[in-house]
Amino acid sequence: MTVDIKPAPAETAAGSSLPTIATIGVIGAGQMGSGIAHVAALAGIAVRMIDVDPASLERARGVMSKNMDRQVNRNTITAEQRDAALALVTTGTEYPVLNDCDLVIEAATEKEAVKHAIFRSVAPHLKPSAMLASNTSSISITRLAAATDRPHRFIGMHFMNPVPVMKLVEVIRGIATDEVTFRAIEALAHKLGKTVATSEDFPAFIVNRVLVPMINEACYALYEGVGNITSIDTAMKLGANHPMGPLELADFIGLDTCASIMGVLYEGMGDSKYRPCPLLVKYVEAGWLGRKTGKGFYDYSVTPPQPTR
Ligand SMILES: NC(=O)c1ccc[n+]([C@@H]2O[C@H](COP(=O)([O-])OP(=O)(O)OC[C@H]3O[C@@H](n4cnc5c(N)ncnc54)[C@H](O)[C@@H]3O)[C@@H](O)[C@H]2O)c1
Repeated sequence: MTVDIKPAPAETAAGSSLPTIATIGVIGAGQMGSGIAHVAALAGIAVRMIDVDPASLERARGVMSKNMDRQVNRNTITAEQRDAALALVTTGTEYPVLNDCDLVIEAATEKEAVKHAIFRSVAPHLKPSAMLASNTSSISITRLAAATDRPHRFIGMHFMNPVPVMKLVEVIRGIATDEVTFRAIEALAHKLGKTVATSEDFPAFIVNRVLVPMINEACYALYEGVGNITSIDTAMKLGANHPMGPLELADFIGLDTCASIMGVLYEGMGDSKYRPCPLLVKYVEAGWLGRKTGKGFYDYSVTPPQPTR
């Protein structure tokens, strides 16, 4: 059943009653944080990005700059737009950097304890009116919100990877999320050029509820010897018309993130069909996390990348 939520009349026309989002904080400068900063800055929004790891911040700046250069070369943005966007991004390692943000989007490692600690620590540094969002791929928005001082202004804003390219943002309301926050985040997603799909707050939401068990099944097919890496990826690319094979996609997402999502589904649904594949877990334990560490189901130190099994 589709639930159609009608905005309150005062919020419809020009969205005049919605809070202004002129400055966004981004916590976690990894693949997703840097992508979120990229699209926000190009939309003319000031970005304050923080990370525990200064090297991540440095890397994020480099990635944004390189990706915007590519857009300039393709004539999708001008050099002036690139320069203006990069100038809108400031970085730091401490929470007070976020004290003038209208919205803070958390995009740190997919571990519930890490996210709880972040939300507990950041809250005292925020404006009372500031909204909080998590880019979590799977963790309960209601549970994350409950650890903050503002569950009514807390929401799931789930961008896809790579953020500048992918058109979807899944928006997930926690049980306490108010309508103004939902409408403000929906309007922001539109401003960033994205299409919104709303999801109820259940483990892994919509995209990952469907996608990651498929990846996990591909890991089982490899684990059980049904096919090798090349045959599984070729089968799904040419047989199901997927642009990337499931194991190549797992490397792109990050094997740690995939394993965490399966863990959340397994725990949250209590159903053995979501058991994380032992081979996926072994790769994570080896630190073979995919593209971001240079090795996962493929070895990226060679061109073209070679299967690791
Ligand atoms: N990778 C994907 O395809 C994808 C897609 C959608 C959503 N997500 C979600 O986005 C989030 C980030 O994923 P990612 O792929 O960018 O991970 P990543 O490993 O590339 O980056 C995570 C960053 O968080 C930083 N970090 C860790 N603890 C921190 C803390 N306490 N404070 C500040 N920074 C901290 C790390 O230093 C790192 O730079 C996760 O919740 C993930 O589930 C990922």
